[in-house]
Amino acid sequence: MKYQAPKGVSEYFPPRSRSFEWVRETLLTPIKRAGYQLLELPVFEETELFTRGVGASTDVVSKEMYTFADRGGRSLTLRPEGTVGALRAIIEHGLDRGALPAKVFYSGPFFRAERPQAGRYRQFYSVGIEAVGSEDPALDAEVIAIAHAGFRALGLRRFRLEITSLGDSQTRALHRIDLLNFIEGLNLDEATLSRAEINPLRLFDDKREEIRAGMSKAPLLLDYLSEESRAQFDAVQGYLRDLGIEFTINPRMVRGLDYYTGTTFEFVHELLGAQSGIGGGGRYDGLMEQIGGQSVSGIGFGLGIDRALLAAEAEGVVDKEGFATDLFIIPLGVSAKSMALSLAVELRTFDLTVEIAFGDRSLKSAMKNADKSGAGYVLVLGDSELASGTVELKEMRTGATTSVTLSSLVSTLTTELLTW
Ligand code: HAM
Repeated sequence: MKYQAPKGVSEYFPPRSRSFEWVRETLLTPIKRAGYQLLELPVFEETELFTRGVGASTDVVSKEMYTFADRGGRSLTLRPEGTVGALRAIIEHGLDRGALPAKVFYSGPFFRAERPQAGRYRQFYSVGIEAVGSEDPALDAEVIAIAHAGFRALGLRRFRLEITSLGDSQTRALHRIDLLNFIEGLNLDEATLSRAEINPLRLFDDKREEIRAGMSKAPLLLDYLSEESRAQFDAVQGYLRDLGIEFTINPRMVRGLDYYTGTTFEFVHELLGAQSGIGGGGRYDGLMEQIGGQSVSGIGFGLGIDRALLAAEAEGVVDKEGFATDLFIIPLGVSAKSMALSLAVELRTFDLTVEIAFGDRSLKSAMKNADKSGAGYVLVLGDSELASGTVELKEMRTGATTSVTLSSLVSTLTTELLTW
C-alpha cells in the first residue's frame, strides 16, 4: 500500500519548506513590530460559529466546510478562516474588556473544500491579524500598511492594492433596495435570486457571462456611502497617501465572506493567474455582536502564505541564504567525532547553524552532503588535524582554505562566520 496525502492539500518539505518558513516569518515580522500578540487557537470550532459569523450566502459556508460530528454528537467544522474563531476567543477570554483595540495575530492551516488548482488548496496556510474595539480610520491604514510591509519585505513588487468601502448599515440598506430592484429586472433563475436575497453584492462576483453583463450597469455601493462612511473612507485614503502606499479603488470588489463593512481591501499579484489574491481583509462592524460579543467594530486581514510563496518564486526573490547552514563539520575517527559534537554545541550558542556529518562515511560523500546543505564553510577534523593542533577551514563559495589552530577555532569561527 502506498499512501498519499489527501487530494488538494499543500505540503512543504525540504528544501522548499525553508522558503515557506521564510515567507511566514517575514510576513509575521511587521505584525509583531506593530504590537500584535499571538493567539493559538483550535483548528476546529462549533459549526454554528461559522454559519453565523461567516454567513450563509458564502460559498465558504454553503459548499466548502469540512464538517463532522464528534463522538459526543456535536457538529464541528475545520476552520475555513481565522476571524470568527479569533473573535470567539477574544469574547470568551474578555480581551475586548482590556486596552483597546485588542490586537492579536495567528498563523496556521485553514480548510476549504474547494476545487483544487494552482494556488488553491483544501488545506492552506495563512497569517492573520485582528484589531478589535476601535473605529479610528488610522487603524485601517495601519492594518493595510502592515500587510503591505510584509509583502515588500519578501521583495514582492508586482502586486497591487485594491480598496473599497462597504459602508455602514444605513449605506447598505439603501443600496440593497436599489440593487434588489435592479436584479429583479435581470430575469434570473430561482437559486440565484435566493442567493441575492441573502446578499445581493454576491452577484458582482458571479462568473457566468450573462450575469456579469447584466451586473455591469448595477448600482454601486460606493455611490451610496453615508456622510460618515464617506468621511471614514476619505480619511483612510488620506493616510495611505501620506504613507506613500499606492492603491486603486475597486467598487466591485466582492470578498468571499459576508461580515465585511466599511474599509475592505485586497492585495492582488500580477503573476499568479486565476488565484491572484495574496491577501485581503477589512472592517466588520456587526460581527462581534453577531457571535455574542459587545457591539464594537474591528478590522483585520488574512495573508496567504502558499500564494505569497508562489508569488516570491514567480518574481525570483526567494531568500535561501537566511536559513542556510553556516558550518558543516566532517569528523574522521572517534575522537574527532566527540570534538565535532562539542564544537557544534558551542558554536550554536553564537546563533550559528552548524551541522555534522554522521555515519562514518567517506570524506567524498560527506563533502557532497556539505555541498547540498549550502554550507558557507566546511571543517574536516581528522586524526592528523587533532595531532597537529591545526585544522583547515574551507570557504565553500571561493574554495579558499585557511589554517586555524584548534585553540583559537571557536573565536576564529565566530568572528569569521558572524561577519560572513
Ligand atoms: P480570505 O481572503 O478568504 O480572508 O483569505 C485570506 C487569504 O488566504 C487569501 O487572500 C488567499 O491568499 C488565501 N487563501 C484563501 N483561500 C485559499 C485556498 N483555498 N488556497 C490557498 N490560499 C487561500 C479571510 O480568510 C479573512 N478571515 C481575512 C480577514 C481577517 N478579514 C478580516 N480579518
